[in-house]
Amino acid sequence: MRIDVITIFPEYLAPLELSLIGKARRDGLVDLRIHQLRDFTHDRHRTVDDTPLGGGAGMVMKPEPWAEAFAAVLADGRAALGEDASPLVIFPNPAGEPFAQATAQDWSTRPWLVFACGRYEGIDERVYEHLADAGIEVALASLGDYVLNGGEVAVLAITEAVVRLVPGVVGNAASLVEESHSDGLLEYPLYTRPAAWTGPDGTVREVPEVLLSGNHARIAAWRAEQSLARTAERRPDLISCREGAQQHGAGDAP
Ligand code: ADE
Repeated sequence: MRIDVITIFPEYLAPLELSLIGKARRDGLVDLRIHQLRDFTHDRHRTVDDTPLGGGAGMVMKPEPWAEAFAAVLADGRAALGEDASPLVIFPNPAGEPFAQATAQDWSTRPWLVFACGRYEGIDERVYEHLADAGIEVALASLGDYVLNGGEVAVLAITEAVVRLVPGVVGNAASLVEESHSDGLLEYPLYTRPAAWTGPDGTVREVPEVLLSGNHARIAAWRAEQSLARTAERRPDLISCREGAQQHGAGDAP
């Protein structure tokens, strides 16, 4: 998979050299390239923003550096992946569609992602129109209903969620199947040794007996029940979503 990131703060993305993602890069599973947007300006101050037309607070990112940056990144990517290659261009944006595990699954199968990190109040709307008119697939993705200072932190989160699903990146693929959100529910509680743990306050806390039973069917049933109870308590919205999807599925069945 190839990933390009366009940003005015390349240093923000340094953590992508660490841990699992860093290893995936070194192993050649992910070709991740970071580009400085200011390299595509032509003035002494390397200006990427200007005041909003029509008035209003803050600054808006100018279209020209973005258009030049996309042209360069597209040319570079196509030279590497083939002239017919076309990326999915992702703009992290609090006004985008919610990024969720299903999105991560979908994007992990894409050969080429380009992240465009907005700053200030946002990017001139004509940049999106320009890409769409050029036949480039564009997505606006929100991490949640809050506002960050720019897209970089969202790129860190999205890249980690996506790249760990690329085959070969996570050593034990079974762990991807059982984790939270993989089946639309939160994960069941986890325990390890010792089976009876004496905490610093002297209280002895025991692992649920079923986990020591060796009865795999009982364990699976207990975990499923715990997952459902935990989801109902913490994220009832996920349960309604699932029920909606199941009813929809049942209605569609022949
Ligand atoms: N940029 C600023 N806030 C954001 C958010 N909540 N999600 C994604 N990108 C953002």
